[in-house]
Amino acid sequence: MWSRRSKGYLLLLAAFGVMSNYLSCFVNFPLSIVTDGHYVPPPSSGHQAPIALTPLLRRQSIATEGDPIRRQIFTQPSPHLWSDIPILAPHTGQKTVLVTGAAGFIGSHVAEALLERGDVVIVVDEMNDYYDVSIKEGNLDLLREKAKKIAQQTNKMAEDILRIHVGDINNETMMRSIFDQHTPQWICHMAARAGVRPSIDNPQLYAKANFLGTMSMLEYSREYNVTNLVISSSSSVYGESESTYFSEAEDVNEPVSPYAATKRSGELLSFTYHKLYDLKITNLRFFTVYGPRGRPDMAPYKFISQVIRGGVIEQYGDGTTSRDYTYIEDIVDGVLRAIDRPYPYEIINLGKGSGTMLNEFILLVEKHVGKKANIKLMPAQPGDVPFTNADISKAKMLLGYSSKVSIEEGVRRTVLWFKNTSTEDGIA
Ligand SMILES: NC(=O)c1ccc[n+]([C@@H]2O[C@H](COP(=O)([O-])OP(=O)(O)OC[C@H]3O[C@@H](n4cnc5c(N)ncnc54)[C@H](O)[C@@H]3O)[C@@H](O)[C@H]2O)c1
Repeated sequence: MWSRRSKGYLLLLAAFGVMSNYLSCFVNFPLSIVTDGHYVPPPSSGHQAPIALTPLLRRQSIATEGDPIRRQIFTQPSPHLWSDIPILAPHTGQKTVLVTGAAGFIGSHVAEALLERGDVVIVVDEMNDYYDVSIKEGNLDLLREKAKKIAQQTNKMAEDILRIHVGDINNETMMRSIFDQHTPQWICHMAARAGVRPSIDNPQLYAKANFLGTMSMLEYSREYNVTNLVISSSSSVYGESESTYFSEAEDVNEPVSPYAATKRSGELLSFTYHKLYDLKITNLRFFTVYGPRGRPDMAPYKFISQVIRGGVIEQYGDGTTSRDYTYIEDIVDGVLRAIDRPYPYEIINLGKGSGTMLNEFILLVEKHVGKKANIKLMPAQPGDVPFTNADISKAKMLLGYSSKVSIEEGVRRTVLWFKNTSTEDGIA
């Protein structure tokens, strides 16, 4: 199917072709036409983008000033938009699930939950050094321990319920051998280069891991007749949306970072594979996930660990930026629900459904750590978005999902995890 190196370059070109197509929206024109034919004004108490607009975006704003045809804004959750989608009952019974990126934060939690409920888990992770590799090794050790315990209880061998493969999902030889060996019918694709800011410095790396990586998973899924493919997307695709509730019905062709562009490209490519080959694919847009074993480059992890250690918190912007911080347990619940339901093709938000300002988040950390934060104010960063807030009505309707962990409870549990695992020098 794939020839090796030369086709790799062709794919890379294709990736940039697709991505540049989106980016061309910035130059060519305008904001898209309102889908339901109504102009919805921005909420009066709405947020404003605190970061400077790029010249390109500024030109676009000027071009559409006073123009009633503009990107649709959603001021409230819109469950009615999804009422005509037939609801699928969950598949039950044991599955063999291939989880890519399962040494990482979200992937390792998902793999653990799958093992706990009795599924067989095949892990693929390249163990890259985007952050301390020992954290990923620790996550894999935890999965091995879990598999060992479950195997003892069920009179099985640990290797019958958990297999770990270290390598790049773009490595065709390895991936073919994994598919031939385990024939997984259910795939949870969490592997990616995450992080908005580093994607600005190294966009090629992000295109290769995220766009080409997703294309590889789509190809294998097609070839090996996979029953359901769940792909991690991101709230970052909403860019500088002015909606109060980010809706899957919203036009999202204005990604403000290469990371966001790769995620949006993956969603579109998966639509193509669904259309051409009738593959069942659900893209999940995660909203700022935090909790035990969190990613050390993310603000919640940095803030909690710095306040515990009495270090300095670098706060970008004035603290009024707001995020829909979502506790890992809720995300895992949503991912498992999506794995069990092979919808033909859907994009679904997974978030808490309400935002918290950075200032408020820091206050909660101070309260649960029991110490004042030492804050150093920094200018807002390019590529960061000012506000995220998920409309989770589609997830409620299609997956039966609801977020259960409040921000206060989530911070409390995460602080507790930090206190139980950190040493003088860092995290144990
Ligand atoms: N954490 C969040 O708040 C958040 C928000 C939105 C979207 N996401 C998405 O969710 C997914 C998981 O994120 P995370 O926070 O757990 O990140 P993470 O970095 O902890 O995990 C990603 C894992 O993928 C692996 N990986 C990367 N490229 C690979 C490749 N080519 N082949 C094999 N393995 C590879 C990495 O080694 C890593 O262990 C990612 O797709 C990310 O973009 C995360």
